[in-house]
Amino acid sequence: MTYTDKDNKYKRYCVTSALPYANGPIHIGHMAGVYIPADIYCRYLRLMGEDVLFIGGSDEHGVPVTIRAKKEGCTPQDVVDRYHGIIKKSFEEFGTSFDIYSRTTSKMHEETATEFFKKLYESGKFIEQTTQQFYDEKEKTFLADRYVTGTCPICGNERAYGDQCEACGSSLNATDLKNPKSALSGNEPVLKETKHWFLPLNDYEEFLKKWILEGHKEWKSNVYGQCKSWLDNGLQPRAVTRDLDWGIKVPVEGGEGKVLYVWFDAPIGYISNTKEHTSDWEKWWKSEDTKLVHFIGKDNIVFHCIVFPAMLKAEGSYILPQNVPANEFLNLEGDKISTSRNWAVWLNEYLEDFPGKQDVLKYVLCANAPETKDNDFTWKDFQTRNNSELVAILGNFINRTIVLTHKFFEGKVPQVNELNDLDKATIAEISTYPEKIGTLIENYKFRDALFEMMNLARLGNKYLTENEPWKTFKTDVARTETVLNISLQICANLAVLSEPFVSFAAKKLQNMLNMSPMAWYEAGNVSLLETGKQINAPELLFEKIEDEMIQKQLDKLEESKKQNAINNASVEPQKENISFDDFGKMDIRLGTILAAEKVAKTKKLLKLTVDTGIDQRTIVSGIAEYYTPEQVVGKQVAVLVNLAPKELKGIQSQGMILMAENADGELSFMQPEKIFKNGSTIR
Ligand code: MF3
Ligand code: ZN
Repeated sequence: MTYTDKDNKYKRYCVTSALPYANGPIHIGHMAGVYIPADIYCRYLRLMGEDVLFIGGSDEHGVPVTIRAKKEGCTPQDVVDRYHGIIKKSFEEFGTSFDIYSRTTSKMHEETATEFFKKLYESGKFIEQTTQQFYDEKEKTFLADRYVTGTCPICGNERAYGDQCEACGSSLNATDLKNPKSALSGNEPVLKETKHWFLPLNDYEEFLKKWILEGHKEWKSNVYGQCKSWLDNGLQPRAVTRDLDWGIKVPVEGGEGKVLYVWFDAPIGYISNTKEHTSDWEKWWKSEDTKLVHFIGKDNIVFHCIVFPAMLKAEGSYILPQNVPANEFLNLEGDKISTSRNWAVWLNEYLEDFPGKQDVLKYVLCANAPETKDNDFTWKDFQTRNNSELVAILGNFINRTIVLTHKFFEGKVPQVNELNDLDKATIAEISTYPEKIGTLIENYKFRDALFEMMNLARLGNKYLTENEPWKTFKTDVARTETVLNISLQICANLAVLSEPFVSFAAKKLQNMLNMSPMAWYEAGNVSLLETGKQINAPELLFEKIEDEMIQKQLDKLEESKKQNAINNASVEPQKENISFDDFGKMDIRLGTILAAEKVAKTKKLLKLTVDTGIDQRTIVSGIAEYYTPEQVVGKQVAVLVNLAPKELKGIQSQGMILMAENADGELSFMQPEKIFKNGSTIR
């Protein structure tokens, strides 16, 4: 039974979290959007004594995996093996409480998805359509939209992809592109007919409208709104197969060389993973007293609210989700998180950089979760929330209480004496927390729930401060006993009610208080710790995070920015061709810089004395912004010696030092790989 299901309609909870693509590691955006709320929800339900199955797994098919493999010169299987490993390990270390974390390349999944497709096929739920698709004649393969590049018909960007233009954000079909090119061979692709199977979503429109728009008005407004707009626009048949060689083979006649579309097989992964976990899987998927909940990010809404339910409905024997609490997106330091731009905080790197601080990230990402709108993660906020909330409020209250108990009462829970009005009011307030926090969690309001949990710690701090047990001990031991008992009881309540949010600290706290595991609904009173019970020595639950730690992370991001600027800088277009004779007119030699001085009243110029092997001469060079005179003396460099002399700031310059220049205008000498005699020619 839960607070919002007092009739106990639901006997069990099947909770899924979007299967992350195994083509890169997990970042804080995934965590804040999907895995942290799902984990809090499941941990809470377990504490409520509910039967819960928390399903995760890697989504290993799809074109992005094949593109990555091609880029890295390995197989798609290599790519997913690597990232599945990294993702699974980082979830484990982070403490995400999956009951199963499997993958869509598993045998079980292949079987399950194949059977699912066959069943729909055999019961005539698909329509077959022949369409025109780009084909690469050199590589002898059909091209996924992502594999075609060309000019965007909307903004003219010459590097648009067949599914989307990243310059203007338009979503495209490959056939919309001007000058289409195959990303595989660079050749112009041809259109070729191909047959595919489509799920006629239009046939499910009425059912979906009733089910969502009338039946699930309680869904989050961002989810409901997106569904409504899809349904209002009318649904079309959707292809559920692709011409690709990475994925689950289309198991019917005519399916050779084709695979299931990744968005067809991936959600079935939830079912396959359940089967892998237990042979008694059907109760989780086919029983009306199971509550099915999908945790996802907003880009997954249409697939989980429209496509997957239509698939389940078409199959006929499955339940539908009761809720799909999708989050919006998390930004990082004001910019969109991006894998390709390496603008992210990667979970595996966080775990390395901040060992033992899983709770801090979980706390900050929950406190700042993009529940109703996009939100921003900043390292400054991370530090502040740690230092002035986790350390100063939660950690401080618990530490003060336990230290005082050891100081005054040898670590034994003191007795309660006469209660005054403040005690009574405090006890009354404590009793409201389990239901208050629980109801918020059941309604997917995780930020508010976390805030209320912290309010219980705030209540404790206020209670201690107002009663000053460190002072009363000298004059009124009975009062001190009562105050510390109640404070310890608040700690014990926190040990239960903080578990979904800061599981590592909660466990430590339970150990400190010598508590045995307790259900959520058993909290809310001041008899969690019996009088005379021995508690353990205090341990710090949270520690201050210093500026250096934060600066390091900011530097890391700065580095990504620089790297991106370098990667994005356009390369100068090639100049017109010249003849070999034109080239031969230039006399380039090795020379050594013998002396250098700044040219007065200029910022850029150095006056150099250069031994060209032919003579010693003066060359004025515009390098002063990048090199000091001391840095250049002694360097052997490339010199164009037959450039017509020119007067610069009153100095005759006889030749030119050749420099490489990057997109930022930064200069670098051209130096020989071996030292040769000055005057040696360069050609
Ligand atoms: N891999 C998808 C993404 O990261 C999510 C798949 S969810 C599933 O956006 F239901 F298909 F598994
Ligand atoms: Zn465009």
